[in-house]
Amino acid sequence: MTKQNLLNRSLQAVWHPCTQMKQHEAFPLVPISRGEDAWLIDVDGKRYLDAVSSWWVNLFGHNNPRIKQAIKQQLDTLEHVILAGFTHEPVVELSEKLASLTGLGHAFYASDGASATEIALKMSFHYWRNAGEFKKTKFISLQNSYHGETLGALGVTDVPIFKDSYAPLLRQSMQMPSPDWRLAENGESPENYALRCADTLETYVAEHANELAAFIIEPLIQCAAGMGIYHSIYLQRAREICTRYQVHLIADEIAVGFGRTGSMFACGQSNRPDFMCLSKGITGGYLPLSVVLTSNEIYQAFYDDNVTRGFLHSHSYTGNPLACSAALATLAIFESDNILVKNEEKAAYVNNKMQVLTDLPIKHLRHQGMIWAFDVEANNSKFSTACYAQALEQGLLLRPIGNVVYWMPPYIISENEIDFMVEKTYLAIKNAL
Ligand SMILES: Cc1ncc(COP(=O)(O)O)c(C=O)c1O
Repeated sequence: MTKQNLLNRSLQAVWHPCTQMKQHEAFPLVPISRGEDAWLIDVDGKRYLDAVSSWWVNLFGHNNPRIKQAIKQQLDTLEHVILAGFTHEPVVELSEKLASLTGLGHAFYASDGASATEIALKMSFHYWRNAGEFKKTKFISLQNSYHGETLGALGVTDVPIFKDSYAPLLRQSMQMPSPDWRLAENGESPENYALRCADTLETYVAEHANELAAFIIEPLIQCAAGMGIYHSIYLQRAREICTRYQVHLIADEIAVGFGRTGSMFACGQSNRPDFMCLSKGITGGYLPLSVVLTSNEIYQAFYDDNVTRGFLHSHSYTGNPLACSAALATLAIFESDNILVKNEEKAAYVNNKMQVLTDLPIKHLRHQGMIWAFDVEANNSKFSTACYAQALEQGLLLRPIGNVVYWMPPYIISENEIDFMVEKTYLAIKNAL
């Protein structure tokens, strides 16, 4: 099959995500035939360094032998079984491991991030109903938040380009000021700004506690907002405020969980949420899997002789054994290879290398864990697409969000590959300005 033939068939038959399909008249699809570590390789053999971990899912590279082996082994025994009324070893083992890592002992599974958001919102609402608090039905989130694209998740998302077209379908939620430090006043420190935002949160929550079910938040980094990083004091204050006024705290760690912010999860033991949503990196980027972890107290509110007090939510592929074994292999790599410590060394290397970018018209150079970002002051109104195209030409997969260029590479990226990423990013930006 020729490359052009494949591209034509894809455009005819596949409706690609998050895409105005007509734009493919100007920007051809990239036909990938295989992956190898941090690289994607197209049908002509051209290599692209995957600096966005294929939408933030890939942690340990493409074609990773250990994750692949775990899936193959699982494939020889059980590919899938209904999880209602049945169970299996990979799902039990994974749930126990996640409980020991987070302190949240009950795991409810789905397949995608947005489904995890839906589950957490429904569970929170249903908890309050079971507790006789029938008025606690509303949700709050942050300005510029992103929690997924299904209707419930979009209802707590605050990105106009994804939300506005569907506004009549969505349930209203309120947005609290974002603590993203780019929004601080001149001369105001990220910490002081975060505290100021937390004060506004407290005022709102104190007034509306009787009708609020939950506050949903992306801990430490609002990724889809253009990697908006904020001070951890905000998380701490959010936890205190939610506890004080009896509002659930839902931590959407779908993008930032599994080491992205430097620690295994962005929420630590001292600011443990009532619900934690995980997906993306959970299987190392191999198979769709998401999970909502919650506490025993919440679980117990559903445990009853009355069926309808139970959580009657399901997805067909819930707890899929292949996906759970990929997740177990991913967690095993974290442990055996001391990943979090190695990532610190890698991050220091990137931080040093990226200083060359300060030659360019950029601001708000920022970094947290294994995420780097900066805002480009470009004259070109089509900077984002131009930079994307320029980077592809250079053999680099970047997906700028508006004028924000970011890196979220797989953790196995080598020093040579970091050099390549920095050098090609520099060129792509320069040519796209
Ligand atoms: C914080 C956050 N929540 C939810 C989602 C939705 O996940 P999915 O695309 O798997 O539905 C994303 C995806 O980028 C995300 O970044």
